[in-house]
This record gives sequence, C-alpha cells and structure tokens, in this order.
Amino acid sequence: MRSLLLFLLVAYLGLAAAEDGLAAWLRYAPVPNGKHLRENIPSVIVSLNATEGLPVYTAAQELVDGIDGLYGKKVKIHKGKGNKPKKSIVVGTVDAYTENDGNVKGIPELSADGYYIKITKGNVLILGQNERGALYGTFQYLERLAIGEISDTAITSNPDAPIRWVNQWDNLRDGGTHGSVERGYGGDSIFFWDGVVREDLNRAAQYARLLASIGINAVVVNNVNANETILTEQNMDGLARIADEFRPYGVQLGLSLNFASPQLLGGLDTFDPLDESVIDWWQGITNDLYQRIPDMAGYLVKANSEGQAGPLTYNRTLADGANLFAHALKPHGGIIMFRAFVYDHRTLDQDVDWKADRANAAVEFFDGLDSDFEDNVVIQIKNGPIDFQVREPVSPLFAHLSQTGSAVELQVTQEYLGQQAHVVYLAPMWKEVLDFDLRVGGEDSVVSDIVSGRRFNNELGGYAGVVNVGHNTTWLGSHLAMSNLFAYGKLAWDPSVDTTEILQTWTKLTFSHDKKVIDVITKISEKSWPAYEDYSGNLGIQTLTDILLGHYGPNPGSQDGNPWGQWTRADADTIGMDRTVWNGTGNTGQYPEEVYQVYENIETTPDNLLLWFHHVPYTQVLKSGKTVIQHFYDAHYRGSATAQTFVSLWESLKGRIDKERYEHVLFRLVYQAGHSLVWRDSVNNFYFNKSSIPDEAGRVGNHPYRIEAEDLELDGYEPYLVSPFEAASGSYCIVTADNSTEGTASTKLDVKTGVYNVAVNYFDQALGNSTWTLFLDDRKIGEWKGDLEYILGRAPSPYIDGQTAARVTFKNVRVKSGSTLRIVGVPDGKEPAPLDYISILPEGIID
Ligand code: GCU
Repeated sequence: MRSLLLFLLVAYLGLAAAEDGLAAWLRYAPVPNGKHLRENIPSVIVSLNATEGLPVYTAAQELVDGIDGLYGKKVKIHKGKGNKPKKSIVVGTVDAYTENDGNVKGIPELSADGYYIKITKGNVLILGQNERGALYGTFQYLERLAIGEISDTAITSNPDAPIRWVNQWDNLRDGGTHGSVERGYGGDSIFFWDGVVREDLNRAAQYARLLASIGINAVVVNNVNANETILTEQNMDGLARIADEFRPYGVQLGLSLNFASPQLLGGLDTFDPLDESVIDWWQGITNDLYQRIPDMAGYLVKANSEGQAGPLTYNRTLADGANLFAHALKPHGGIIMFRAFVYDHRTLDQDVDWKADRANAAVEFFDGLDSDFEDNVVIQIKNGPIDFQVREPVSPLFAHLSQTGSAVELQVTQEYLGQQAHVVYLAPMWKEVLDFDLRVGGEDSVVSDIVSGRRFNNELGGYAGVVNVGHNTTWLGSHLAMSNLFAYGKLAWDPSVDTTEILQTWTKLTFSHDKKVIDVITKISEKSWPAYEDYSGNLGIQTLTDILLGHYGPNPGSQDGNPWGQWTRADADTIGMDRTVWNGTGNTGQYPEEVYQVYENIETTPDNLLLWFHHVPYTQVLKSGKTVIQHFYDAHYRGSATAQTFVSLWESLKGRIDKERYEHVLFRLVYQAGHSLVWRDSVNNFYFNKSSIPDEAGRVGNHPYRIEAEDLELDGYEPYLVSPFEAASGSYCIVTADNSTEGTASTKLDVKTGVYNVAVNYFDQALGNSTWTLFLDDRKIGEWKGDLEYILGRAPSPYIDGQTAARVTFKNVRVKSGSTLRIVGVPDGKEPAPLDYISILPEGIID
C-alpha cells in the first residue's frame, strides 16, 4: 500500500512537472476528455524505412511520446515487414510505402518536404515526399490530436517555399567565456561556449525538434557578424556535432561566414573574391565542411555592411562575392543566402545631403546584378528597407530581382519591438508584408508569391527568420513571445493561414484548451502590435528607440544627427523623411509604378506610412482629421492605456494557468504597463518641447497626481539632470549623493484620506541592485530591488535613461490626509538608487 501511495505521489509529481517553457508548444499535456477519445487512436505504429537518427525514426518516437502524453495511451512500434496489424498509424516516405506494397492510388503528388495524412475509420497513414515530410506530417497529426481533433480526414500539405530557415545571431564568445547572442534576450547561446561548440548540445536537439514541428528545415547557427574562427578545425568538428543533433529532425545546418576569413584565418594577404588563392581557400574549407557535414544547407553572408568586409573592398560586385561561395557550394548541393542588408553607414550624411537615404541602399547596390548570380544564390532581404522597425513599407528590392531567387528576412527576436519585455504578437505585421502586392510590371506580385518563386519562376526562395533563442528555459525570454516563433514557421509553410488561428492553436498547445485562456491571450496578442506602434512610433516615423545604444527604450533624439540613417528629420516645425522623387530622396521611385504613385503623393500615402515617405509640418492634417502632432499625443496615450489593460486581462486567468508561467508572464506585463508610460511621456515630451504645440487634451506635461522626486525633501539624495531630458518626468530625477550612503526623500501628502494606488517611477541601471523602501508615516508599504537586468532579458544599460526607467505600483494603499510619504533608497555598487516621481492615484487613474 505504501509503495502504491509512493508510486501515485511520484506519478503526480511527474505530471505536475515544472512548466518552465522548455517544451514550448510540444508539451503533449493531457487533452481534456482524452480518455474517452483514445479508443479511436490505433495502438500500433508501423514505421517504414526507419533508420535510427533519421526523421522517420524520430517520427515514430514522437508518436509514442505524444500519444502517451496527450491521451495516456501506450502505443507500440511494430518492427519489420509483413503481418501488419489491422488498425495502425503507418508513417514513412511515399517511396517506402510503395516498396512495402502500399496502394499508391489516391495518394496525391507531393513536393519536397510535403506530406499526406489520411485517417479512415481510425486508421492513420502519414506519408512524406521525403523523410522530413513524414516527420512534418507526424507533427501535424500530433497537433491535431493535441487540439482534440481525432476525426477522419485527408490532408495534403506542401510547403509554399523550399527555404524555411532560421538565423541565430550567436557569438562564439562575448567579452568573457559566454557564448552570447547578438540581439538575443533569452540568455546565452545554446551552441557555443568560450569560443568553441558546447560539449552538451541537448538544447540544440530540443531546438531542432521545435523547429521541425513547424516546418523549419535549416538553422544558421552563428552571427551574421561572423567570426572567422568558426572555421577552425576544432570548430568544424563541433559544427558536425551540432549537425548530428539536428539531423534526426530533418534540420540542416547553415553557417554565417566572415568574408575576410581567407586573410583573417587563412593567412592569405587578400580576400578578393576573384583571386585564385581565395577561391581555392574557400573551396578547401567548403570541402572540409561537407566531408564532416554531407547534408550542410549552405552559407549566409553579410558583406559590405556595417563595417563587415566584402567584395566591394576590391571593386568587385556583390555578385562576384556571392558567386565565390556559390561555386564552392554547388558540387555539394548547398546554397548561399546573400544578404541584401548592404549599406555603408560611414558615407551617410543627413546634414549636407537632403537626398541621402539608407532606405535606397539595397536597390542601389543590387540593381544591374540580377542576371549575374549563380542559380544557387538567394538574396535574403529584410522585410523593410531599413531595419525591422515597428512599421515599414515592404522593401522595394523584392520588385527588382526576377532572375535571382529571394527570401524575406523577418525578425522573430524583438530587437526594436520591446525585446520580449513587451508583448508584441508579430504575425499580423508579417502577414501585411507577405500579402503586399508590389504590382511589378502592373501585374499581381504579392510578396509571398515572389519569395515562393512562383511570381518569377525561381526554383529557390523563401524565408529566413532571425530568432535568437537562448539557453533560458523560455527560449526567447518570455513565454508569450514563443507565439511569434510558432507563427513564423506556420507562415513560412503557408503564408495564407489566418494569424488568429495560428495564435489560438499555439495557445491551446502551449497553455490550455480553456476558452477563457484562449480569449484572453488572443485579446492581448491582437492588440499588442497596434499598442506598441502607438506608444513607440506611429505614422511610419519608425520605432523611436535609442538607436545608438540598446535599441530598447525611448530616445527620439537619437535617430537624427548621426550617420546611421534612421532619420526623422524632426525640427521645430516639421518632421518626416521626404522620400519622394519630386523633392526628396527618390526612394518612392524604387517601387513599381502603381505603388510609386501611391507613396509619391501625400494624399494617397496611408497615414501609417506618412512620415516614412513625407516631410510635413506637425500641423499637417491626416486623413483622420487630426494633425500629426495631435495624432502623436493621442496615439501614445491610447497605446499605453491599452498596455495597462493587459495586466488585468492576464490576472483574470489566475488559477487557469500553472503558477510558474502565470507569474512569469504577469511580471512582464506589469513591467510593460509601466514602461509603456515611460515611452508615452518621453516621446510626447520630446515633440512638445520641439514643436511647442500643446496637447489639445491638456495631458502632455501636465500630471496632476505626480510628485516629482526632485521636489521632495531630500536627505542623502540630490537632484540629477537626466539625459535625454525627456526620459525623466520634469527632466530631473534624484540620486544618492554617494555610493555607500542611503538617501531619504520625503513629503507630507496633500491628498484626501482614501484608498489609492501608489506608483513609483525609478531607474534600474545594470550597475548594481539598489533597494528602495516606501513608507507612509512609519508604516512600511513595500520595498523593491533594482535587479531587472537579471530578470528581463532586454539589453542591459548602465545609464539613467529611457532604457532603465521602470515603475512599481502598490495597489489599494490606505492613505491618510497629511501623512508623510518617505522613500529610503540604498545605493549598490555604482547604482545610486535613482527615483523619478511618485503618483498617488485614485482607482482607475494612470496619469
Ligand atoms: C541590425 C542589428 C545588428 C545586426 C544587423 C544585421 O542593425 O542591430 O545587430 O547585425 O541589423 O541585420 O546585420
């Protein structure tokens, strides 16, 4: 009896295993009512052509685990030919099926990686055009089971495009031993440590499993800003080990290359792509790699961009550069993804040149080369002409390449979109890009048809997603951000899928079938991109983030006055980039005629791209009837107000989601709600200051519930002028006078006795863990620590600015009229416990 109890306890604990995010959407959690349905699922798997280590073998294992987890049913794998059980799940390639006397009648034509699922009276047939396709079909079958769908069906599914890659911007090491991830917010690299490939590659295999389940077929494992040491013998051996982990999931390995490697690593005195010794060197390296990794996908190259070496150094064309690798790869069947993100930030000068424009760079660099590329070259083009901003028009380069295949590069990691500390469901944004019709030659030219190869009859093309997962168990640093990875794979497979449907399937798999959970996550997610756009940069002005530092918090002033080319050209009266042909940079002229006509004219340019294409007065009236400046003010208030609602929406799920993930998400949403106010006030104050045009609603610069920290009675604290000024309320915060003595800031409250929410805005630099304690008279209301740099994965910052500004709120605090409010700040390290302001807020007011 005791042992039975012990067994039950262990079983229970096993079931309640930590929901730390590691299993993501492949949790195989029990399906509600699963017990009643499981009779309809076969108990035997017939796995055709199952070689251990290859996808069909994996598929069978996955079926065993999945059906056990989802339905509590143990299924067996039937080995060998003949004597097939009556009711079974048959999985394999079409070829193996025919060889096993399977009846091919009725099996549709499949393209590479495609699959066919047929369920008749409980009998399941899963066939792939290749092994990978069989695994994809298996994951699709399991996804159906996981959402409780067991009915008879026949599904034929082929990928829309052959290239469905993921890019990881992983570094071999950071300044120390850690393998860091550029623009990654989920921890260290899962591949590298201390300059070499990690010993333990368990996470690489788990990643491949997740990716295979959404149809991704290759991962470029290292940063586009590539280090040449990736090609040392030791690292090539390591890469082969990563490829071994990927292979069971049909995921191929790709590699970013540093164009100057022949010189940096090979000891040659040149990296000229037409030099014989350079050509030989790359061929040698490529052969060495293929010897170790016969199924390597190919290369990714960032050349002549942001300081990276490239063919232009030797006056060779970008096509010369790309073809160098194309030739080396061709005998092995590999492809080269050559990035269109080519621009020279050193030559951009806004001050003297009204016509200078980074958005023009890609087309300018690639024009005239279309017929020069080898047929295993694919041009990888970021979705917009600049750099993953909150809103951009589609890159015009998609309209300029017809003889060369192209791939759209989308960013899953939220570099400019809140770095996973803000929830932003990106699929609707990608969908707008993929559905956009460029009207090349006056004909239908939808972006998804261009990258699939359909529009111009290209064999190669597709998708590259910059994902940047890390070692954190949540992968991306936030549970909700994983819907973006899921959606990326689903859209790359089939860009016509509805993004809400994707989200809801993901929610069921990741969290629960509970309708309320699905409704709430849908609501939050669907509102998240519009809200973020509202408070971070609207009307096409770009994400007004600090582009010189972490790309995270607000800093509208950082866009201009530097050569990075993300300009807004804001002055006292006007704002926006004039990209017209008639008077500006000529960028609109890079679009095909019909699209050009829309963007060239203010009247036809949609409001949400107005400032991307036009330079206008702040008083310019939009189609909505509002002026540009009033739209700014209103949008920032609206977006941040929406972000506040995410908290209460999420709180309504308490008890419906496991505690671990509930708390993790809640923490971030509360943080986001606070930081959205920082965004709102910084951007609004900045433009109010610039334009001197007041907010019609009287909100900007007017905060009746706020007490500025610099106005408090200070002891051990002193005022500090924040830079940029708009990052602090009233431009000032307070900091402790030295690094070792605590400071006190106090005041007698002039409020009516009642119950309030007390909010405190402070700055949490990555310089230490200051602590703050809030008192009302002698009653301690609460304390908090400046340790967000360990909790949020967003770029850490040592500065007191919009990156580090944060807010803590104590709810339902009883405040007596005349009470003394006191905050004690204890500095830590070089962090001087900075405080911005305190708000005593009646219920329902945010201020
Ligand atoms: C952005 C990003 C860089 C990255 C670059 C690229 O500029 O901030 O980190 O290297 O894009 O895509 O190459």
